[in-house]
Amino acid sequence: MISLRNIDKRYGGVAALNQVNLEIARGELVVLIGPSGCGKSTLLRTVNRMTEPDGGQIIIDGKNALASDPVLLRRSIGYVIQNVGLFPHLTVRENVAVVPHLLGWDKAKRLQRADEMLALVRLDPARFGGRYPGQLSGGQQQRVGIARALAADPQLLLMDEPFSAVDPITREQLQEELLRIQRDVRKTILFVTHDIDEAIRLADKICLLRDGAVVQYADPDTMLRHPANEFVARFFGQEPVLKRLARYSVADFVRIDAASVAAASAAVAAGADSVPLHAGARAALSKLLGGLPLLAVTDTTGAIAGLVTLVDLTLAESPAARDELAA
Ligand SMILES: Nc1ncnc2c1ncn2[C@@H]1O[C@H](COP(=O)(O)OP(=O)(O)OP(=O)(O)O)[C@@H](O)[C@H]1O
Ligand SMILES: [Mg+2]
Repeated sequence: MISLRNIDKRYGGVAALNQVNLEIARGELVVLIGPSGCGKSTLLRTVNRMTEPDGGQIIIDGKNALASDPVLLRRSIGYVIQNVGLFPHLTVRENVAVVPHLLGWDKAKRLQRADEMLALVRLDPARFGGRYPGQLSGGQQQRVGIARALAADPQLLLMDEPFSAVDPITREQLQEELLRIQRDVRKTILFVTHDIDEAIRLADKICLLRDGAVVQYADPDTMLRHPANEFVARFFGQEPVLKRLARYSVADFVRIDAASVAAASAAVAAGADSVPLHAGARAALSKLLGGLPLLAVTDTTGAIAGLVTLVDLTLAESPAARDELAA
């Protein structure tokens, strides 16, 4: 889908990007991470040519992006940034319809599309469509930003720290929403963050940059288990097992055999705690570390679906590892 080849960008004497090579497959969510100033935003912006690289090639869907019209290129790529950049004098619905407008869609079609996108990001169009951005919370504005980026149905989405201005709970919800949307509509997404947990949770692949160069490009599990060098290991920190859990939900570990369901039911009847299937594995671990022998797991209807134990979560720290253990 995207090939970045030998991308260079210098500012004065400093290399913001130094021979960056990156292949991103269609439908993949790739997270760019690394210390402040390492070139994440610069790299993202070279893809839609808001920043022109000094050297290298950018191939998008087989086409040389550096040879295409930058304005048309930008319209074909969704872009979401930290403080959203919504137009304050346009309503939410009009904001979402901006790119379809630029692309010349007729009014009825683009407003209908805007409402579909608002619904996709779980903002009721009837309630929010006619409001102005200043009348929304920060998290709601971020949702509008995502709806706007998706409105013209781009195959490629660039997101630069889109969730870093919101509180941790809203941030987690937005992450969950993004994963859900990604399951629904499957875009190719290049996502910048400086938050390690966010990277591990969202990424199909992580690209760790340092001083404008790629240090390691791998899926999160590989990155945590097999850091390419000391810098990668230090960057991801002390608790790789715990960090890996950020990728998983209780559903990945639940025991659903009849005996487990019976044991969970008995435990709940005796007052034991429970977690929903879609809860994060780390939240379950945290409860279990409080001293519980097991946690009952409930499905979306609230019915008991099974149980999860400390051993399930820690010994088999990931479903892949569990499969290895079972083999
Ligand atoms: N327009 C510019 N003029 C001069 N230098 C720039 C410009 N834009 C970026 N730089 C420099 O290029 C380097 C990479 O910047 P970039 O914004 O890509 O970093 P980043 O990884 O996104 O950092 P952060 O995590 O702080 O957002 C930095 O040293 C920065 O100072
Ligand atoms: Mg940046």
